[in-house]
Amino acid sequence: MTDPSLYLKNLWYFAFHGSLLKNEKLVGKEVAGEKIVFGRDKNGVAFALRDNCAHRGVPLSQGWFKNDTIQCCYHGWEFGTDGVCKNIPALPPGGTVDVSKIKVFQYPCKEINGTVWVYIPEKKLPNVEPKLPPPDLILAKDKKFLHVETVTLPADIDHSVIGLIDPSHVTFVHQSWYWRSAKKLKLKEKKFEPTPLGFKMVRHEPSKNSKGYGILKGGTSTEITFEIPGIRTEHIKIGEKHEIISITVLTPLNEKETELTHIFYSTLAISRWLWWPLKRLGKQFIGQDLGVFRKLSEGLKSKPTLSLIGEPDMQARWYYEIKRLWAIAQQNNEPFVNPVKPQTLHWVT
Ligand code: FES
Ligand SMILES: [Fe+2]
Repeated sequence: MTDPSLYLKNLWYFAFHGSLLKNEKLVGKEVAGEKIVFGRDKNGVAFALRDNCAHRGVPLSQGWFKNDTIQCCYHGWEFGTDGVCKNIPALPPGGTVDVSKIKVFQYPCKEINGTVWVYIPEKKLPNVEPKLPPPDLILAKDKKFLHVETVTLPADIDHSVIGLIDPSHVTFVHQSWYWRSAKKLKLKEKKFEPTPLGFKMVRHEPSKNSKGYGILKGGTSTEITFEIPGIRTEHIKIGEKHEIISITVLTPLNEKETELTHIFYSTLAISRWLWWPLKRLGKQFIGQDLGVFRKLSEGLKSKPTLSLIGEPDMQARWYYEIKRLWAIAQQNNEPFVNPVKPQTLHWVT
């Protein structure tokens, strides 16, 4: 059985890049252990419903669109994109059944900057109102992210998050010759501050042993934010007027798998003429993480004792503490108070 504390509730989870959700298509997907069917209504607006027909529970994602409704593949019940039953074909005319009383749970769903997000509530009450707005992806409303890559890590959300925010694996996992070299290790000192749902490494100049930044001329600075349930946002400013937003987001599918997606936005022309090499670089990074995660999942099979040691593992400790306090705040219906205090961390990479 899944540990109920593995998934945080009352939060927005990344579902997928909007380009993967086509008109007239139903997409079934597991998010935080819940089976959800996604689609677009006749206006192209994304929606999300529990992926079980209210009749006998067949996945609605196995059905199809019929005009403005979703039709179940088993007995043809039709549901609006709001989850309300519209028609039961087998009922004889003139009956007394009020089909509009039959409902499939509708999840709050929002598309922001070309990415689709779903809100997983603690309690599945009808017309549930999200307790917080979808994440701010720090991009103007009319702008869209490009999709770099999606991979499935063979790990639960906690190991995946820790792999994402862990500074000390970079030296050993991501030592591409043209990016950075393991030989030139440096003591790093980074300032951190709390954010509403996590923490950020405050704006700083990127380290000199990251050659990748070398191609970006003229006063480069970066700010890296991590927020629950698993969103890492890197905001790079180049000179006065250019920016890059690189977001890596984790979606727990179930206790064994977590999806990692990398999305990217840039005001520079590189989004055109340098896009393919850049995309390859992004894919290579993710491939390196995936490689070490496969080894990790082998190691975890024997349920070893794990440890979090010193400043390189401090962000992982913060994550667990934020998670614990978020869960308690939801249960007691209290505001969440972030336990992270501004502080400086050191590590060698
Ligand atoms: S199970 Fe869906 S219509 Fe019967
Ligand atoms: Fe990594």
